[in-house]
Amino acid sequence: MISKLDIWELLSKHNIKSRELADLSTNGKLPFNDIELIFSELEKTTPLNDKKLLDIGCSDFRVSLYALMHGMQVTAIEKDAELSGEVGKIFDEAIGKYPDLKELFNFIPNTNVLDIEWKDYDVVIFYYTEPNYLSSQYVDGTIEVWEKHLGGKIGELKPGAIVIFIFIDARIKRERLISPEDPISVKFPMLKSSLPDIITSNNRYVRIKIMGKA
Ligand SMILES: C[S@@+](CC[C@H](N)C(=O)[O-])C[C@H]1O[C@@H](n2cnc3c(N)ncnc32)[C@H](O)[C@@H]1O
Repeated sequence: MISKLDIWELLSKHNIKSRELADLSTNGKLPFNDIELIFSELEKTTPLNDKKLLDIGCSDFRVSLYALMHGMQVTAIEKDAELSGEVGKIFDEAIGKYPDLKELFNFIPNTNVLDIEWKDYDVVIFYYTEPNYLSSQYVDGTIEVWEKHLGGKIGELKPGAIVIFIFIDARIKRERLISPEDPISVKFPMLKSSLPDIITSNNRYVRIKIMGKA
């Protein structure tokens, strides 16, 4: 099974750079200590072994690989075509070097997560990004389509399934003016949760919602 050191070595070898993607969003990378914090919180909620994770926007698989280390079965999906091609090499190397991952690890490249079924997953996680809609190049309606369909996709999940969305501080700045107590639910009512948000040392807001609970 893969270790933390193996993950760090694999990812530093490939070193996928953050940059503007085809949809004008950026593939920001979640710091490892944030990922560790998220998994330790998640473990308090449910045993992770054999649970099915959907890693939305997997980029370099950092979240997927931590999940595999915790014994989860992982489907990683990435929308950006160019990035999918690049990170495909990391996927191939991971399952080549750690053959026991092969049965547990699935990669769906070049695919929008809105186009697959979510109903079989126990946990879905997304480090949220959206295109820079202020750019003069923003024409494709990605945000509008996403917001229109996200609620329906979350609604497909079974009771007890866990949804984790991570936001950067700047993303929820405007909403905080409207609702300082619960800024994330202003824009994303489908993520309303009775659990308190986790604020990481890197200023990320982690919203955890358990399906079937308020
Ligand atoms: C902020 S990056 C997060 C990367 C990685 N998960 C991490 O935590 O470091 C968001 C990623 O989600 C991908 N993405 C955005 N919308 C998506 C969608 N609808 N379906 C699949 N992937 C998506 C982007 O291409 C980008 O690689």
